Amino acid sequence: MQNASGLTQLPKFIYGTTRLGDDSIDFDERVKIAHYAMESCSWFHVSDQYGSAISVLAEAFKQKPDAIPKMIFKVEGESIEELRDVIQRNIEPLGVKHMDIGQLCLRGELAEQYAQSGACYQDIEQLRSEGVIKQFVKEVFPWSSEVTYQALKAGHDEQLVDGYIFYLNPLQRFALNPLWDLIQQKDKAVIAMRTVCGNTPQALRDVPGAAWKEYIQQRAVDIAPLFESSGIKNWADFCVGYALAHSQVQATVGSSARRENIDALVNAAQAPTLIDDKILKKITALHQQWSDSLDQHAEPWSM
Ligand SMILES: NC(=O)c1ccc[n+]([C@@H]2O[C@H](COP(=O)([O-])OP(=O)(O)OC[C@H]3O[C@@H](n4cnc5c(N)ncnc54)[C@H](OP(=O)(O)O)[C@@H]3O)[C@@H](O)[C@H]2O)c1
Repeated sequence: MQNASGLTQLPKFIYGTTRLGDDSIDFDERVKIAHYAMESCSWFHVSDQYGSAISVLAEAFKQKPDAIPKMIFKVEGESIEELRDVIQRNIEPLGVKHMDIGQLCLRGELAEQYAQSGACYQDIEQLRSEGVIKQFVKEVFPWSSEVTYQALKAGHDEQLVDGYIFYLNPLQRFALNPLWDLIQQKDKAVIAMRTVCGNTPQALRDVPGAAWKEYIQQRAVDIAPLFESSGIKNWADFCVGYALAHSQVQATVGSSARRENIDALVNAAQAPTLIDDKILKKITALHQQWSDSLDQHAEPWSM
């Protein structure tokens, strides 16, 4: 089944696998966590960039081959050869033959071609013809927002991609204002990432080191009181409700190595909590302001 944008039907919550790459947790325990997530989440978000997560998943899938989830994979590179290499590096160890969704993280020449309807379109489409990747979504960071805006505005990527994937949570919206407005105008499908932004806003605000960048700590100062005034007790409920309050958002991708946190995210997505419209509008206004004041000036990989 597909939605209006053509993107395949997704569950509201997708399990992100970064926490499976945490080597401070015993390997076998992480395989058990992967199995736990496989029981409640039918889709995973995967990348060989997440430490040893691929090895954990490979073992988990080997032990339970009938429970392998569908997967979105990051496919990053500057050339089509690099993309092909990344694809094999991801699927081969997992023993799967294809990617259900490929998240296009295009850099250098490929990014330029993407903006201008260049050769990359045919080359990437070829991957679909070969059955290696079934569907594509375009990854957006603040520094790749303009390129994506140009392609979407001109309609170049209409045939190739079925949606856009970026950080979207109460503290981050990585599509800059012009692209975000265009995505909404054109009613394009979105996959939101980093469901809870790494921690509760109180911890991000108050606990030294909890926020991995200073801007996150500063944003938590604004978001914590909005969360507290919402009457919603649980941060996972608030964040899942926040992401799914946008009609374009098909799913939110979050990670956890704790069973209780996985349960909280899965439960939150089963019956998304409605957030007061006034609070949603305040967050929207903050995101608009942050996009102009910080995000659009950000150096690549600085935030
Ligand atoms: N460019 C990209 O493609 C990209 C970049 C970033 C992320 N992602 C994807 O998005 C997924 C999620 O991103 P992320 O891990 O950076 O962000 P996240 O899901 O917002 O945060 C995960 C962190 O939050 C903690 N957590 C989970 N539930 C919580 C709760 N209810 N209250 C407080 N803390 C909670 C987890 O700790 P515990 O493990 O202790 O529960 C973990 O440390 C990744 O796994 C990855 O699949 C993709």
